[in-house]
Amino acid sequence: MSGPELGRLIDEVDRTVDVQFAAVGDVDELNRLYASLLGRRGSLNALMKQLPGAAPAERKLLGQRLNAVKGRVERAREEATARIKRTARERELSAPPLDITLPGRWRAPGRPHPIMRTLDEIVDIFVGLGFDVAEGPQIELARYNFDLLGFPADHPAMDMHDTFYIAGDPGQNVLLRTHTSPVQVREMLSHPPPVMIVAPGVVYRRDDDASHSPMFVQIEGLVVDRDVSLADLKGLLEVYSRRMFGEDTKTRFRPSYFPFTEPSAELDVSCLVCYGENRACPQCKGTGWLEVLGCGMVHPTVLRNVGIDPEVYTGLAFGIGVDRTANMKFAVDDIRSFYENDVRFLGSL
Ligand code: DAH
Repeated sequence: MSGPELGRLIDEVDRTVDVQFAAVGDVDELNRLYASLLGRRGSLNALMKQLPGAAPAERKLLGQRLNAVKGRVERAREEATARIKRTARERELSAPPLDITLPGRWRAPGRPHPIMRTLDEIVDIFVGLGFDVAEGPQIELARYNFDLLGFPADHPAMDMHDTFYIAGDPGQNVLLRTHTSPVQVREMLSHPPPVMIVAPGVVYRRDDDASHSPMFVQIEGLVVDRDVSLADLKGLLEVYSRRMFGEDTKTRFRPSYFPFTEPSAELDVSCLVCYGENRACPQCKGTGWLEVLGCGMVHPTVLRNVGIDPEVYTGLAFGIGVDRTANMKFAVDDIRSFYENDVRFLGSL
């Protein structure tokens, strides 16, 4: 290529540089333009390669002009970069401002299930009276659930405890515990008296109706020491009833039967809903009384079964139905609604 021709091409680029850079709107366009001039295959680079073809006398001048155009490109690029940044910033600043008065997204806070809240309340009362908390397994030995508690095989008392046995265990030695009373046995086998525990936990039975769920919650109580008497049992459960249901709660002990206590009783408290004044009360069915727990003096046979001398030690025991207690507190019609996991229902309690 001849010197004058090269010079003409250099001038042409020189003339268009400013216009081209002034036209780019964003960084991508800018990079593309820059590469088309000074990239590996850019037009200025191509002209640079033509220099050796020019006459030696012209070469120096052409080289200087090329360098001047390059400098112009670099400056134009810097200016365009600054302009693009400025425009973006101005756009940002003129956008509608962040509205910090918009209400935030609300998430319902969780809280413990009403039955667990009731259970915690009961545990707190007994812990306040000096009891320890013990636990036992939900999959239990029939020996602890029945035999050592003095349930005779085929006794009618077993009818209430029809349960879920473990498949592949034809001797029915292992079952889902039907009550928390086996924790009594476990405690007495593992600790010498004095024993003073409550044992909260889930239990299972093959019942399913408005007042029975196949899975429910009990809390067991056991005191074994020298000179524990029926008066202690009554006094203790009266204190419990007043703390749980209110200071003016009345209590009533009715004789009952459990294989592991003698004598045995059931404890009723005065109806929290109608105080015995509404013959049509749905809670107490007009009786004025609500059944809250079973209790009694630990049967001497049970003490003997776990190696404790009933001539030296006596014990009191009780078993509270926690679902039933929650039912009373919240006046719920169907005990099963506690287990349906309907947040509208649970959240209303
Ligand atoms: N285990 C009994 C039941 O589930 C309740 C019970 C009654 C527990 C009397 C006791 C008790 O500790 O003394 O039906």
